[in-house]
Amino acid sequence: MSQQHHIDELFIRIWNDYLSITPSAEKVHALLAASDTAPKIVNDHIALRTLNFSHMGISVLSQHFEALGYTHGGDYDFGSKKLNAMHFEHPDGNHPKVFISELKVDELSDAVQTILHRISQSVTSEFMSESNCLYSGKCWQLTYNDYQNLLAESEYAAWFAAWGFRANHFTVSVNHLETLTELVEVNSLLKQHGFVLNTSGGEIKGSQDVCLAQSSTMADKMPVVFSDQTVDIPSCFYEFAQRYPLPNGELYQGFVAASADKIFESTNVN
Ligand code: NI
Repeated sequence: MSQQHHIDELFIRIWNDYLSITPSAEKVHALLAASDTAPKIVNDHIALRTLNFSHMGISVLSQHFEALGYTHGGDYDFGSKKLNAMHFEHPDGNHPKVFISELKVDELSDAVQTILHRISQSVTSEFMSESNCLYSGKCWQLTYNDYQNLLAESEYAAWFAAWGFRANHFTVSVNHLETLTELVEVNSLLKQHGFVLNTSGGEIKGSQDVCLAQSSTMADKMPVVFSDQTVDIPSCFYEFAQRYPLPNGELYQGFVAASADKIFESTNVN
């Protein structure tokens, strides 16, 4: 099978896993497909979350994309959220970029570190060596009380502990739409149909000035089976990105840290 085929297959699996806990994304996808003449909805990027332990950090997740021809495209630092991130892109430009962040565990409290260390011990290198780890969810036990302890300190830590390895969001490329040519039109359509957008930092994060404008829905709430009870918590959201050309005329392909910082809040509980 061709590399193209392998890449498409991998993203279909990640997408199906994502839809299983993000029912609103399927509705938004259908709405955009019905409202736009573009032959298909193209993804700008997906985002994955992990912890910075050496056997499960960014470089461990990225190897599955690098094996398919992806290369490192940029580094990002989110100081206040205690996150590092990198993005990876494919040279042929038709495949979604992959944005992978990792929590700097050592910067959190001892109590939170203890929970995250325990999680990391359930993640084997063998498990991480297979590309299906990218849409495998969590392979560890977590009590609802531990979830709440994580949430009090880091929304990101709590989300990862509850949902595990899977796409945190998919992102529609507004540049590839034909009828809805501006992000503001996409946002209006979504609001008309009752979807709730993340307004942290404004409905649109970024602008033409930084060559990237983004918006997102607020995450769905879905049941998580904790080891002691099942509770509805925020799952995943859908994002929309419009890219603008650099002075050399090429579309900017990177990310804007200040905007992504606010996008992370799409999985906030309130
Ligand atoms: Ni994103």
